[in-house]
Amino acid sequence: MVARDESLDRIHESAYNVRHHSKESNRVVHKWFTQEVISMLRPVLPLRSILLLSFACAFATGEGLVHASPAGHAPHGTVTIDGVTVPDIGPLPTTVPIPSSNLNYTAKIELGKQLYFDGRLSKNNAISCAFCHNPGTGFADSRQTSIGVGGGIGGRQSPTVFNTAFNHVQFWDGRARSLEEQAIGPIHNPVEMAETHEHVVTKLGKIKGYQQQFRAVFGTDVNLQGIAEAIAAYERTVLSTNSVFDKYVLGDQKAMDEAAVRGLALFKGKARCILCHNGANFTDNQFHNLGVPQVGPMKEDLGRFNVSRAEKDKGAFKTPTLRSVAETSPYMHDGAFKSLEEVVEFVDQGGGTNSNLSPLMKPLNLTPDEKSDLVAFLKALTGEPVKFSMPQLPK
Ligand code: HEC
Ligand code: HEC
Repeated sequence: MVARDESLDRIHESAYNVRHHSKESNRVVHKWFTQEVISMLRPVLPLRSILLLSFACAFATGEGLVHASPAGHAPHGTVTIDGVTVPDIGPLPTTVPIPSSNLNYTAKIELGKQLYFDGRLSKNNAISCAFCHNPGTGFADSRQTSIGVGGGIGGRQSPTVFNTAFNHVQFWDGRARSLEEQAIGPIHNPVEMAETHEHVVTKLGKIKGYQQQFRAVFGTDVNLQGIAEAIAAYERTVLSTNSVFDKYVLGDQKAMDEAAVRGLALFKGKARCILCHNGANFTDNQFHNLGVPQVGPMKEDLGRFNVSRAEKDKGAFKTPTLRSVAETSPYMHDGAFKSLEEVVEFVDQGGGTNSNLSPLMKPLNLTPDEKSDLVAFLKALTGEPVKFSMPQLPK
């Protein structure tokens, strides 16, 4: 087993600590959104589209059953397959969860964007967040598994930052823990994190542009908490939304082509994808063993088991979002598959062979046409293009 790049872990964890500081129920309207994000958002749903929405889903259900829930909630119903009832898929809510400890958002976003693209956050000054979560490749990494500081190859594929604002847990194994635990997490632990973090803070603290911005935004010198809050603020603006699928379920029947419409019905029916890829962000935030072949530098990756120590979690990984998935090849926790076609082929076979395979996986007997319809549907989940410009990095 290859050791994870610990400095990278620490940078990650600092961002999550902030994200998980407060109670989940704390949702604030997107007042803080920058122009580029506002342009991605739809106006508040009129009731008429919500009704249309229910019809669209009722038609597209295939073998599943839809129960419309009260209007105004998106997504708005449930789907039942083989006696298992899960939330429906649907448009993202127009709010993202924001911790109450990380207010004054708007001011932090621009600073966070600079930090996100700044290689000086890493030991060798070369590797920024964007190196592995690249806007050009769906805020993910086109390498099979990530290359860290010093050229070491990591054992896992870099997931997209798109919509991580909606994740209940972070990382393939969910090791970024609950909000309550995170508040007292590793950022305050001198044994775990002090050294590297101190170094980053000292380094950035010597850069005038950062000094000034920290003064203006936080009223403090450069510090770790501020770095984490700012990056998290920026990440919450990185959203994949208003896809062709969203337009379709919001009532524009012509938005999605026929293949994708058939793919949607399969997704919620015969192909059973919705059993795990459900809710507005196409993930149940749970962990499942699909029997994905282990490739790359790790011999064995026990996934969620490393966190929970529960037998059932051996080889189980977090269900990833499928939003903008066409942009984020390669796929799976270890980047085992290069194309969506390969993924669909694999799921069609009922996953791989593994003694701990999820009971939800079984051979689907999809026809070649059905497989290509499913791929067409996955492509319809690509979000509206985000207007993007590289930030000027401070000197
Ligand atoms: C060297 C490559 C690399 C760099 C640099 C990097 N990441 Fe990551 N990131 C990864 C990998 C690989 C994972 C998955 C690790 C795992 O699950 O064990 C990940 C996971 C994440 C996740 C979790 C997403 C999810 O759906 O679970 C977020 C959010 C994230 N990184 C943000 C950042 C931020 C912010 C930075 C900069 C401070 C950063 N990353 C720097 C490779 C990288
Ligand atoms: C039992 C739950 C479950 C079912 C059913 C399921 N998935 Fe997944 N899916 C997952 C998990 C978990 C992963 C990550 C597995 C891993 O990396 O080991 C995944 C990964 C993926 C990925 C790769 C995404 C990425 O960013 O790497 C795609 C694409 C995908 N699934 C599509 C589908 C489709 C299409 C279906 C239906 C034909 C389907 N899934 C059915 C749980 C499921």
